[in-house]
Amino acid sequence: MDGGEVVRRLEVARREGAELDGLLRAAVAEIEASEDRYDWVGIYLLEADVLVLHDYIGRPTDHDRIAVGTGVCGTAVAEGRDVNVADVHAIENYLACSIETRSELVVLIRSERDGTIYGQLDLDSDQPAAFGAEDEEQLRIVARWLAGAFDRERWDPVPD
Ligand code: SME
Repeated sequence: MDGGEVVRRLEVARREGAELDGLLRAAVAEIEASEDRYDWVGIYLLEADVLVLHDYIGRPTDHDRIAVGTGVCGTAVAEGRDVNVADVHAIENYLACSIETRSELVVLIRSERDGTIYGQLDLDSDQPAAFGAEDEEQLRIVARWLAGAFDRERWDPVPD
């Protein structure tokens, strides 16, 4: 995936008036379409100590609310780090979204201004070890841009 290209498209959407909700949905769609290996792509937003599923593309999941510290997603928040799981079957603290899923990558959406975790990009693949360092790097580019959109909304709201 080319994170820079995704960001360029999101930037165009923003200039054309898209709000945060639409930008998050557009990011999910752009990321999901970018690689066949990406079988499930979603964004969870952190509300107090629960991750709430905002938007996703892929098979339906039961996990639309995940407590911090639970599963791969909640662990990423609890430990304040991105998590790349090559083999989900090897993880005890794993919440199966789909029986077919073999690997998972979580990239945090975190404020560059004060470190607040806004949420995360969550990707699943039906292939084992589907996510490499390049995927992490490109997804971080998108996650940083999305964090910037949250930051702007929080600190620099556009006056009416
Ligand atoms: N596997 C995640 C749950 C989310 S689903 O994959 C969509 C976890 O262990 O936190």
